[in-house]
Amino acid sequence: MARYLFDNAAVQTAGRFSVLESRYDTASRRALERTGLGPGWRCLEVGGGGGSLGDWLGEQVGPEGAVTVTDIEPARAASRPRAANVRLLRHDITRDPLPGDGFDLVHARLVLLHLPERLRVLELLVGALRPGGWLVLEEFDCGWTPVLAAPDDSAVLLFERVHGSLMTLLEKAGAEPLWGRHVVRAMLRAGLTEVTATTYAEAWPGGGTGIGLHRANTEQVTAGLAELGVTTAEVDAFLALLADPRFVVNSYPLISALGRRPEEGSSR
Ligand SMILES: C[S@@+](CC[C@H](N)C(=O)[O-])C[C@H]1O[C@@H](n2cnc3c(N)ncnc32)[C@H](O)[C@@H]1O
Repeated sequence: MARYLFDNAAVQTAGRFSVLESRYDTASRRALERTGLGPGWRCLEVGGGGGSLGDWLGEQVGPEGAVTVTDIEPARAASRPRAANVRLLRHDITRDPLPGDGFDLVHARLVLLHLPERLRVLELLVGALRPGGWLVLEEFDCGWTPVLAAPDDSAVLLFERVHGSLMTLLEKAGAEPLWGRHVVRAMLRAGLTEVTATTYAEAWPGGGTGIGLHRANTEQVTAGLAELGVTTAEVDAFLALLADPRFVVNSYPLISALGRRPEEGSSR
C-alpha cells in the first residue's frame, strides 16, 4: 500500500520542516496574500507539517476568524504554542470526513504531491470551499533541479544518481515528483476559476540551509536507497557534497497555484 515516505515520526522531520519554513514560507505567504486573505476568514490548512503557516494564517484572520490545521501526524505542529483561533487536528485527508465546509480559503503545500489519490483529494478540497472561496495548492516540480556548480563532473553524476534514486522511492510510495507542473491543469479541470500561478526557486549552495532538505530526505531513506543499489559509500559522498560550498544546486521550484470556486449560479 502506498504510504507517505517521509513519516513525521522520524528524527529528520525537524530538519525538513525547518528548511521548508525558512526557504519557502515567504513565497507561500505572498501567494496566500494574493487571495485577499484578511480578518474574519475561515481557513483550512491541510497537512500543516511544522505548523508555521497555520500560525501565520491565524494572525492574518485575527480573533474573528478561524484556522483549522490538519495532519496525519501533527506532533511537530503540536509542539509549538498556538493561538486560540488555530485548531490542530490529527486527520487523514484521504480517509477522514472533512473537518468543516464553507471555507474562505483552503491551502495545502507539498501534500497532494505525496498522495496517490491527489485528484480525488483536489475535488474534496474544492468541495470544502464556499462559493467564491480560494484554493491555494503549492507543489514542487522535482524534475528541475539542475546542478549550478560542482567541484567536478563526477559530483554532478553522483548528485543525479542519488537524487534520481530518491525520486524512484517517492514514486514507489505513490508520490508524483512532477506534480507541480500538472497542478494548474488539474485545478482548471476541477472547475476552479481565476487560476494563476507563480514559481519560486533559488540557488542552494553546499553547507547552506536549503540544501539541508536533501540531507534530511536522504538520511531518512538510506535503507530504501540501499535496496535500489545505492551504496553506503555513495550516500556518504553525496552527504559530503551537500556540505561542500563548491557545489550549488537549484532548489526545488515551488509552484504556488491559486484558483476560486465559482460563485453559485455562475455559468462555469
Ligand atoms: C512535505 S510535508 C509538508 C508540510 C507542510 N505543508 C509544509 O509545506 O511545510 C507533507 C505533510 O503532509 C502530511 N501528510 C501526508 N499525508 C497526509 C494525509 N493523508 N493527510 C493529511 N496530511 C498528510 C505529512 O504528515 C507532512 O506533515
